[in-house]
Amino acid sequence: MILITGGAGFIGSHTCVALAACSEPFLILDHFGNSRRSVLERMGRITGMVPPCIEGDIRDAGLLRRIFAQYPITEVIHFAALKSVGESVREALRYYDNNIAGTVTLLQAMRAANVRSMVFSSSATVYGDPASLPIREDFPLSATNPYGQTKLMMEQVLADTSASEPGQWRIARLRYFNPVGAHESGLIGEDPQDVPNNLMPYVAQVAAGQRPCLSVFGNDYPTPDGTGTRDYIHVMDLAAGHVAALRYLRQNMGLLTVNLGTGRPVSVLEMVRSFEKASGRPVPYAVVARRPGDVAQCWADPGLAERLLGWKAELDVDRMCADAWRWQNGMARSLLEESALAAH
Ligand code: NAD
Ligand code: WQD
Repeated sequence: MILITGGAGFIGSHTCVALAACSEPFLILDHFGNSRRSVLERMGRITGMVPPCIEGDIRDAGLLRRIFAQYPITEVIHFAALKSVGESVREALRYYDNNIAGTVTLLQAMRAANVRSMVFSSSATVYGDPASLPIREDFPLSATNPYGQTKLMMEQVLADTSASEPGQWRIARLRYFNPVGAHESGLIGEDPQDVPNNLMPYVAQVAAGQRPCLSVFGNDYPTPDGTGTRDYIHVMDLAAGHVAALRYLRQNMGLLTVNLGTGRPVSVLEMVRSFEKASGRPVPYAVVARRPGDVAQCWADPGLAERLLGWKAELDVDRMCADAWRWQNGMARSLLEESALAAH
């Protein structure tokens, strides 16, 4: 059985659905700090069974001990983390505590229970401002904010943990590029509890009429249309990447580090046009100043993942937008209305 920390969140919920589709048993551990309990029932509508879930915190060593004692856990996929760059600058200690102390507590509990297999959510943010493109796994690493720093530090903790007991650990550090989109059912998707920080959920809310206008952060970058380019990857492709990593670890000991991206750059304006096409709605935008800390361009060389895992992203930007729109204009809208009613 696979323990999925943060399995109620955006990437975790989609990965659980992908695991259920290949009959992999799993147990979710999540404290719902950035997700809704109702996601479990919606996942159940897709898979035919509400997934088992324990509500709790990865920093709770006693709870982890009980989980490893009670369930036949053999592997962990570790999504649980705080992920807002801006918030991490204002609340650095909270980020270090949740992301680093949380992961160390989890690794200690795993070791005590003799479970030494982990798939870890890292991020392209560990490459900082890349000197050249596309980005390969052996490029220099750096962090420009506490969130990125937690990912860098956790990558190091995992490398050192692996080296501390040679031949015993199986660890995958998956560096996601920009995960977007939603499950094709429209029942689960990205569900920001506040004003979205990321481009795709913001564009989706503008198209849905929930926000008036997108701010495009700069159009004077050295890119074809002047706006920043990124490697957006459909969340179901990313979910499949986790299944592939899990299978790789079952066959191979040691430390795996791979990019999960498409290898195709897409600009902010291309994303806006594609979303307008998918939704049939206008996405009004205004160009404003660059966002501090943003890089001009970022996209993956996904070749290593294809060679080692036999995995490759399949879904294009139009599909990412179509699926995100189905979610935004249906279930996400209902959830927003429910929350607004509950707040009154
Ligand atoms: P998310 O916030 O939607 O999901 C994270 C889940 O973890 C949430 O359900 C939250 O309630 C839970 N959680 C957080 N701290 C916890 C704790 N201490 N104990 C128990 N549960 C806890 O985020 P996501 O987008 O699904 O991201 C998943 C992982 O992928 C994170 O580690 C994130 O840093 C990483 N990542 C995300 C992106 C992205 O753009 N979404 C990009 C690169 C890497
Ligand atoms: C994409 C592009 C913006 C919002 C961030 C984190 C990174 C990772 C993913 C977890 C950029 C532009 C955005 C808006 C805009 N998270 N934009 N208007 O910055 O690549 O990565 O999320 O690991 O750590 O830094 O993604 O979606 O925020 O931005 O013009 O309202 O869209 O300038 O060019 P980013 P993003």
